[in-house]
Amino acid sequence: MTQAHLEDNTKHDPVKIAKPYNDEHIENRVISILRSGRLVQGKLVEEFEQSLCKYLGSKHAICVNSGTAALHASMLALKMENQGKSEVITTPLSFAATANAIIHAGCKPVFSDVDPEAFNIDPSGIEEKISERTLAIEPVDVYGLPADLERIGGLARSHGIQVVEDAAESIGAVFHGKRIGSISTLSCFSTYATKNLHTAEGGFITTNDDNLAATIRMVRNQGQSSRYNQKILGYNFRMIEICAAIGLGQLPFLDELNERRRQNAIYLREGLSKIESIGFQKVDDPSAHSWYLFSLTFDGKRARMSRDSFVSKLKESGIEADVAWPTPIHLQRYFQETFGFKRGQFPVAEGICEKVFQLPIQPFLTHEELDRIVRSVKQILV
Ligand SMILES: Cc1ncc(COP(=O)(O)O)c(C=O)c1O
Repeated sequence: MTQAHLEDNTKHDPVKIAKPYNDEHIENRVISILRSGRLVQGKLVEEFEQSLCKYLGSKHAICVNSGTAALHASMLALKMENQGKSEVITTPLSFAATANAIIHAGCKPVFSDVDPEAFNIDPSGIEEKISERTLAIEPVDVYGLPADLERIGGLARSHGIQVVEDAAESIGAVFHGKRIGSISTLSCFSTYATKNLHTAEGGFITTNDDNLAATIRMVRNQGQSSRYNQKILGYNFRMIEICAAIGLGQLPFLDELNERRRQNAIYLREGLSKIESIGFQKVDDPSAHSWYLFSLTFDGKRARMSRDSFVSKLKESGIEADVAWPTPIHLQRYFQETFGFKRGQFPVAEGICEKVFQLPIQPFLTHEELDRIVRSVKQILV
């Protein structure tokens, strides 16, 4: 297929992979915060935390200024309660922050390979990695699909360790009827601009554990239990009021926005299901996924084209396709140089990174744009 056969998108705007939510109410609230003079961690952060607890069904929600800070603070709090334990078992198929937070907390990432179809950490490989040094298991709900929290939780309980869930991508997702954020010892969310619920930058932790919540609140604010009363070493992980206002303004619509993402994913899946060189992340129950990202796989041999040139062609035709992630964490240069990881150690994750890509499903896509995605993929491949 030559470029001439590709759809002429010069007359269209690109089909965006992310469109951060905004409305007039949020805009007005942001202006009134700026005029109020109380800009950081005031009433709106508290209100946002209470609303998140109610929505997710958790006892505590602690807002911070990124998903990475949520993971970092969680690891630190757990480590303080479990002196001498310093390894965290996690997946190599994730964003660098998943493993960076472990290292920032003075711990060591121990990777365990993933399931070839669901792309989440494979519970059957975890047990052999558990030792007396293990502090926690850190599953990631990859692209918004919950990890197997039942088996992972069972393993953690039987070894007396905790689960710190990287739920950066899974707000609104459900596991066995319970919302993500109400299941693991600690669940860490990102509210970065592209996420299903965003605060431009931000994140939060949910837990039902009073002691961990109190420690994380101290870590968030320079280790202080109250003003100028420092008990532990902490950071500035505070959320600003403007971020809380942006999040609060969206939360009532989150389920509806996620439902639109799900409908868009189903529509695209149907439209693309007959293309031989394309596969999909295995999702048994579409209503349990947050649909942060709609992830597909590309068979370059069948298509006689590399995944990367296919994605480039999509971009040229005005579809903001993406590749998350082109490299598993253990093969990032820093991790190879620091820990000596080598290609071949986690072959399933490595194979997925070679073939995975994403198409837009954000909630503000029009039907015309969804059809344009299907047409563009077919024009390149069929
Ligand atoms: C799986 C995963 N973990 C952690 C993070 C880190 O979140 P943030 O960018 O808010 O620090 C992200 C966000 O991009 C993510 O996708």
